[in-house]
Amino acid sequence: MTTALYRRYRPENFAEVIGQDHVTAPLRQALRSGQVNHAYLFSGPRGCGKTTSARILARILNCAQNTEENPTDTPCGVCPSCVELARGGPGSLDVVEIDAASHGGVDDARELRERATFAPARDRYKVFILDEAHMVSNQGFNALLKIVEEPPPHIKFIFATTEPDKVIGTIRSRTHHYPFRLVPPDVLVPYLQQLCDSERVPVASGVLPLVVRAGGGSVRDTLSVLDQLIAGSGGGEVGYEGAAALLGYTQASLLDDLVEAVAARDGASAFRVVERVISTGHEPRRFVEDLLERLRDLIVIAASGDAADAALRDVPTDQLDRMRLQARHLGASELSRSADLCNAALTEMTGATSPRLHLELLMARLLLPAAEDTRSSLGARLDRLERGLPADGAAAVRVPVAGPPAAPAAVPAPQPPA
Ligand SMILES: Nc1ncnc2c1ncn2[C@@H]1O[C@H](COP(=O)(O)OP(=O)(O)O)[C@@H](O)[C@H]1O
Ligand SMILES: [Mg+2]
Ligand SMILES: [Zn+2]
Repeated sequence: MTTALYRRYRPENFAEVIGQDHVTAPLRQALRSGQVNHAYLFSGPRGCGKTTSARILARILNCAQNTEENPTDTPCGVCPSCVELARGGPGSLDVVEIDAASHGGVDDARELRERATFAPARDRYKVFILDEAHMVSNQGFNALLKIVEEPPPHIKFIFATTEPDKVIGTIRSRTHHYPFRLVPPDVLVPYLQQLCDSERVPVASGVLPLVVRAGGGSVRDTLSVLDQLIAGSGGGEVGYEGAAALLGYTQASLLDDLVEAVAARDGASAFRVVERVISTGHEPRRFVEDLLERLRDLIVIAASGDAADAALRDVPTDQLDRMRLQARHLGASELSRSADLCNAALTEMTGATSPRLHLELLMARLLLPAAEDTRSSLGARLDRLERGLPADGAAAVRVPVAGPPAAPAAVPAPQPPA
């Protein structure tokens, strides 16, 4: 367990590349039918498989099993070239990888032009992988232009870049362009699960969706986050609370407590959650963002009933059951009104000197629909009436039926910052 996950799991053929079927499928089709272009451009965000795919393509092109009579889209894995170009292999003389980010543009392109005149040392093609191609200067590209325009038959180019617009048009137009994308959670979560299984690392329910969220769709970043959590787990299970804390996410339990307090109009509990948010070092704005995301999920549940399971596939089932109850308690219009309030609070919190104060004001507004005479608050009150709850709030929920009339808003005043 010494090398990073993203190195150990670097795909060696296209079947192992995840989330890029829109580029791998047509590319593999072309390879299977022996239609090989002389220049390719792989573009897309960081860490989604461009460099990896460029190496795979080079490996396929030079695989000894890949012949004119028997074209293939999968490297055999056992010929000398395949072995050299395998993960952790020494590399091949006939596949030249140039990282434009660490070389001076022009000189390298000149040198490259000279090298490109030689025939391959052993294999079918001389493949040049020009990585981070956006770093090549215009002069560099111009020096390359001639060979990319009229390449000798044994030369193949693969450009990889995050910024295809910076590759000059005269070169770009001679390539087959394959745009890679960020990988969506419904592909990444099962992939990580599989990876944890093969590493024999137990991971608590709900952790992988957090990891995927932190990785922002970049496979490399996602694997690095997972690596860090595994390293921190000391060989035991990767736990949910620890992961949430390390990644700076609001623990689901804080959100549960808050949403349930709002549903019950329990001001004291709601403000205790604020206290916990602050005392555990959470950023108020981040908390409101996470609350907004929770409300969004609850709205999905309220709107789609059982079909919500599919939409919220990443949510563990026990959590989903809890959220179903929350959605039912709050009701569709209260949920929508709360989401609006959170959204407005986020705007107000930007650059605010006291985000905590805004958080407390938000609590007060969430707890007191009756205080606002807007249409959404009327809708929320109506909703409550329809569900047999008192419309105006507070203690009402917990006041015995025979008791005195419900006092308005038993919400404690916001506490001054500690
Ligand atoms: N689509 C993908 N499928 C599987 N693993 C991937 C994918 N994209 C990236 N990775 C992982 O991330 C690492 C870095 O990917 P890389 O191809 O260098 O990204 P890029 O060149 O797009 O920045 C790889 O070693 C691999 O472990
Ligand atoms: Mg790369
Ligand atoms: Zn081979």
